[in-house]
Amino acid sequence: MELRHLRYFVAVAEERNFTRAAERLCIAQPPLSRQIQQLEEALGVQLFERNSRPLKLTNSGKFFYSHAVQLLAQTAELESMTRRVGNIERSLSIGFVGSTLYGMLPKIIRRFRDENATVELSLHEMSTMDQISALKDGRIDVGFGRIRHEDANIRRVVLREERMMVALPVGHPLSLAKPLISLRDLIHETLIIFPASPRPSYADQVLSAFQDRALKPAKIYEVRELQIALGLVAAGEGISVVPSSVYGLKREDVSYVELDDPTIVSPIIMSMRMLDESRDIQEMLELIYRLYEEEKIPYTPRPDLGQ
Ligand code: BEZ
Repeated sequence: MELRHLRYFVAVAEERNFTRAAERLCIAQPPLSRQIQQLEEALGVQLFERNSRPLKLTNSGKFFYSHAVQLLAQTAELESMTRRVGNIERSLSIGFVGSTLYGMLPKIIRRFRDENATVELSLHEMSTMDQISALKDGRIDVGFGRIRHEDANIRRVVLREERMMVALPVGHPLSLAKPLISLRDLIHETLIIFPASPRPSYADQVLSAFQDRALKPAKIYEVRELQIALGLVAAGEGISVVPSSVYGLKREDVSYVELDDPTIVSPIIMSMRMLDESRDIQEMLELIYRLYEEEKIPYTPRPDLGQ
């Protein structure tokens, strides 16, 4: 059994479909099916229930999956940490969700580049859930996302809880009526949420804020991304609840109004591989807290990471 078999098996188990797994692995489907068959023969057990749609793991498959994921994560960690110990080339690959670009991310990247000129940085836009698998595969070293996802191989630091605010078409009566508005004021509006997929996403945090208060917006309109939501708000198609850093993106045709409830927030979470104690990640974390202090941005108490 080779690492390749584990990678293929994990992709099929996660996608629950051979076609999607083959696309994710950038290979054709017949060789993928052959590799899974070889793996089952080598192990002498069936990993997937035959003829189940979507594919289901057998009990042996579930056991093998939980260990295969850990082995792959450890392999990725070993590769990237060995490279860093060797210090031949310092590089840091960063995954981020789009909305963090309106917050501190650009400043963090610029400052990190200024202070660490020899580290090659690369940036990859991806959902929080994709960041988890990209960290385990070694495609990224750090992720900035918004979803609180538990995973034994991933360390998560909640950097801050960002308040949400409401984006309304300019001239909308609610933007003129009062300085602060409540979610209840919005229930007769069309609520534009993003991103529509993959889920869970920031969209679910907005929906939960309504549900937690037993409120139901009149109509929900799901769109792919923040920029589209703002464009539709500007066109008068509805309103949107956005992270407050989006305010920096001032548009003449959109008004922003603060919510009256400071507990309506979306976290900004930094994720890294559990055992990765590399200097670059430590420096990135230090720099973020330094910037929060400089900019007087309230942040979540800093965890003791045991270093
Ligand atoms: C922030 O806005 O606080 C932030 C954004 C991206 C990465 C880290 C922090």
